[in-house]
Amino acid sequence: MRNQFLFLAAASLVSAQGFSADWDAAYTKAKTALGKLSQNEKLGLVSGVGWGKGACAGNTAAANSIGYGGLCLQDGPLGVRDRTGITAFPPGIQAASTWDRDLIRQRGKGIGAQTKALGIHVILGPVAGPLGQFPEGGRNWEGFGNDPYLCGVSMEQTVGGIQEAGAQACAKHYIGNEQEKNRDTMNAVIDDRTFHELYLWPFAEAVRANVASIMCSYNKISGKWACENQQMLDAILKKELGFRGYVVTDWDAQHTTVDSANAGLDMTMPGSNYGGMNVLWNNGQLSNAVNNRQVPQARLDDMVTRILAAWYLTKQDSGYPRVVTGGSNVQTTADKNLAKAVARDGIVLLKNEDILPLVKPRSIAIIGSHAVSNPRGINSCGDMGCNTGALSMGWGSGTATLPYLSAPADAISSRARQEGSTVTTTASDNSYQGASAAQNADVAIVFITADSGEEYITVENNKGDRNDLNAWHAGNELVKAVANVNRNTIVVVHSVGPILLESFADLPNVKAIVWAGLPGQESGNALVEVLYGDVSPSGKLPYTIAKRASDYGTSIQATTDNFSEGLYIDYRYLDKNNIAPRYEFGFGLSYTTFNYTALSITSTATSGPATGATVPGGASSLFDTVATITATITNSGPVPGAEVAQLYLGLPSSAPATPVRQLRGFEKQMLQVGESASVTFELRRKDLSYWDVGGKRWVLPAGSFRVEVGGSSRDLRLSGMMTVA
Ligand SMILES: *[C@@H]1O[C@H](CO)[C@@H](O)[C@H](O)[C@H]1NC(C)=O
Ligand SMILES: *[C@@H]1O[C@H](CO)[C@@H](O)[C@H](O)[C@H]1NC(C)=O
Repeated sequence: MRNQFLFLAAASLVSAQGFSADWDAAYTKAKTALGKLSQNEKLGLVSGVGWGKGACAGNTAAANSIGYGGLCLQDGPLGVRDRTGITAFPPGIQAASTWDRDLIRQRGKGIGAQTKALGIHVILGPVAGPLGQFPEGGRNWEGFGNDPYLCGVSMEQTVGGIQEAGAQACAKHYIGNEQEKNRDTMNAVIDDRTFHELYLWPFAEAVRANVASIMCSYNKISGKWACENQQMLDAILKKELGFRGYVVTDWDAQHTTVDSANAGLDMTMPGSNYGGMNVLWNNGQLSNAVNNRQVPQARLDDMVTRILAAWYLTKQDSGYPRVVTGGSNVQTTADKNLAKAVARDGIVLLKNEDILPLVKPRSIAIIGSHAVSNPRGINSCGDMGCNTGALSMGWGSGTATLPYLSAPADAISSRARQEGSTVTTTASDNSYQGASAAQNADVAIVFITADSGEEYITVENNKGDRNDLNAWHAGNELVKAVANVNRNTIVVVHSVGPILLESFADLPNVKAIVWAGLPGQESGNALVEVLYGDVSPSGKLPYTIAKRASDYGTSIQATTDNFSEGLYIDYRYLDKNNIAPRYEFGFGLSYTTFNYTALSITSTATSGPATGATVPGGASSLFDTVATITATITNSGPVPGAEVAQLYLGLPSSAPATPVRQLRGFEKQMLQVGESASVTFELRRKDLSYWDVGGKRWVLPAGSFRVEVGGSSRDLRLSGMMTVA
């Protein structure tokens, strides 16, 4: 009895933490339902009905014998695409730069709730591929930055939030889809260790969070298409990670009927024969393949079972709303506030020489075309395929229709007038006009941007990926011209990823650099709260801002991506090569200061390989807490503020060559003036392990681990050792 009690207590703790998922019960229901389905109904469940035939980007047929209405699958990762009356939340990259687990989860829940309210079953997000091998990668902004741990936590929280709200999440794009250039033919060749420790890691965390579905990508992996790659789909996803949901293709990423089915693909989308390759499943092909025994009936039954299990798991079998067509308004005031909170708390203050927060300046000049809304209309470019006006998201299928846009110039002007300042706005990127607007103002706020997106749209000669890491529209020249005449120049950057700031970062007249990222619909409202000090900025960079493009050590590839830099992307590369960044991974200033004290390290870890039955995410012992590290943070400055305490780990020398330090914990803590709090990092066995290529398993190495805690990857205030026998 007593044991049973303990077990229940432990189980409820797990479900309180995450989306409560009972796969066994869902499978039992799915298997019962399977027995009632005709072969035609089964075939209808596993394939899209064809492009444009249905309310969503992807639609599957109903199976009336079990009261199954079919699935409606819709983009995308920052909100429901192609619908009005929804919230255009900040993209994933902004959520990651909040480093706030609760906020990231709430954002997921907001997206999931709107998905459900519209009767859509599957929202096609979140994104962990691309992870961010290349800073120029066109779709990096849809995901959560290029550190697998930060991305992994963000995946876990977002999947949990979406599914808690009742929608099915779809983790994408699996895997090795790191660039837009030639994504339909690219061959990704990733060594097994790099694969596990970087690119697979966040997908494993999504599986751990019981994600309902995973989307396979367009590219090849080691010569085999991702959507017919038995090693990727069956061996790794389903067997090694214990994924019990279904794999769905990216749209038109299927190349064969039989091989894809036998490799572990469970659903094909959208069900139209684009390429004329006759590889579909819904036009007799899969039916024939099963009849000919090229695809076992058991494989088709497994596809169906997985799809139905995900449907039961998320409780979509009872009382799920019908698909809403036509107008609707599912956005609440709470959603708007949430969108603002993510936008605001993801703002990273990079430089501040006694100018922010603003205190009633007499006059403010707002400068740049990106300070105002696109004059042709905030949604005038299809899928946001232009960089005109205030930048709120990148372009492509990962966008949503803006219900409104709080433009920076509007929000600042309105606040400035309340504070008695005069404001002029010069919505031009012309250096001469910028300088002439700035020269007589107390403060000049200059807006610059960089944009990227999906390869089916080319914007100003950038075919998805960025051509370079410079600000667009001669932004550097504009900043220099303004700073040349104004001693209080504030630069606000809206960008999909890092840009090079060297041409102006050290100019004495550039008093502040505010990295406002990609803020979604609440752009201006969020920015004002930081500029005026309603809140202290608390975002931290989810990537490094280097001094030169070559400092990242990677560049977009032509036909084969060998991932030859291995584990060394972003800060791992700069640390290894002793390259000083402009602003390091994890960096971000505040209006207050924080003191770190009292590092404490306790560990029960034992060296050796991970063991235990496979649970969602991998071998069960990977998720045991084996070390607890605490530190005390004190707000030692003048105003309340939140600090993101970060924990970095260096592996002992008994492990194969490993990055100097890797993020393995973070905790965001709000503190009043003078207040102290203890932050706790619970390290799982996985967090202390490396992937052992020979043994094909995670191994926790023996020896001394270096534990570092601080405010960024280079501001490591506390350090200690942890020895594992
Ligand atoms: C990738 O690796 C293969 C095999 O070693 C080699 O032939 C090819 O040249 C490499 N490609 C690039 C772009 O480095
Ligand atoms: C910060 O902590 C150190 C101990 O590490 C202490 O000596 C110092 O006084 C503290 N500073 C503030 C401002 O609290």
